[in-house]
Amino acid sequence: MRTALNINKLNTVYNKTARYYDFYHRIGTFGLDEKGRNYLIQHLVKENDFILDAGGGTGRSSFLSLKLTRGHAKAVVLDQSELMLEKGREIAKKAGLSDKIEFINADMYSIPFNDNTFDKVISTYSTCPLDNPANAVIEMLRVLKPGGLLGIAHSTNPENKITRWISTKFENLLWKFPRLSLGCRNIELVSDIQKLNVSIETNKTIGFIPFYFKILIIRKP
Ligand SMILES: C[S@@+](CC[C@H](N)C(=O)[O-])C[C@H]1O[C@@H](n2cnc3c(N)ncnc32)[C@H](O)[C@@H]1O
Repeated sequence: MRTALNINKLNTVYNKTARYYDFYHRIGTFGLDEKGRNYLIQHLVKENDFILDAGGGTGRSSFLSLKLTRGHAKAVVLDQSELMLEKGREIAKKAGLSDKIEFINADMYSIPFNDNTFDKVISTYSTCPLDNPANAVIEMLRVLKPGGLLGIAHSTNPENKITRWISTKFENLLWKFPRLSLGCRNIELVSDIQKLNVSIETNKTIGFIPFYFKILIIRKP
């Protein structure tokens, strides 16, 4: 796993890309990002859920959750980039959803909520830029209610040696341009999660050369 960008660099990257992030991420991943979000949300979110969208950026996963529940859910989008959050607030205002989604500037390593607060926690593509994604998983599980589900989508390496080689070459190239890579690395989290007292209910990989995303659904006992 390559070394993550430092927090200041990461913030600069996201503040600079906030205006066009949703469009860029969609085009840049050939729509695979939305496929991952939709899979997670359809398998996780239920009406009246209180949801934490950790590293939620512009709130795309929260907007999809509200759409699925026809507005019968509430979400908190937590992110460290103020301009990503600002863009999300604008989208919520235009959609008349400001009373359903709150946008807060905070750190995924230190979530400002009590233990056992949320019915569901979602992290779509927000663990891959972190320097210690396993610690963020522990923190997300802390604020999740017992029996609740944590859904994670993150960039990963494919299993197959040849596709892995191509994917790594592509990652190496993108990494030279932080505004293109968005600081997202291919990571592996399953072995760390297996050490925790949780059950992994879904563990699948979606994608094609050169993008692969791991989709995980984890239940807190
Ligand atoms: C690739 S974006 C994903 C945004 C959104 N979840 C989505 O599905 O499009 C990664 C997000 O993680 C945020 N992030 C990175 N490190 C963070 C941290 N330590 N605490 C909170 N947010 C963080 C970034 O600011 C960025 O908005």
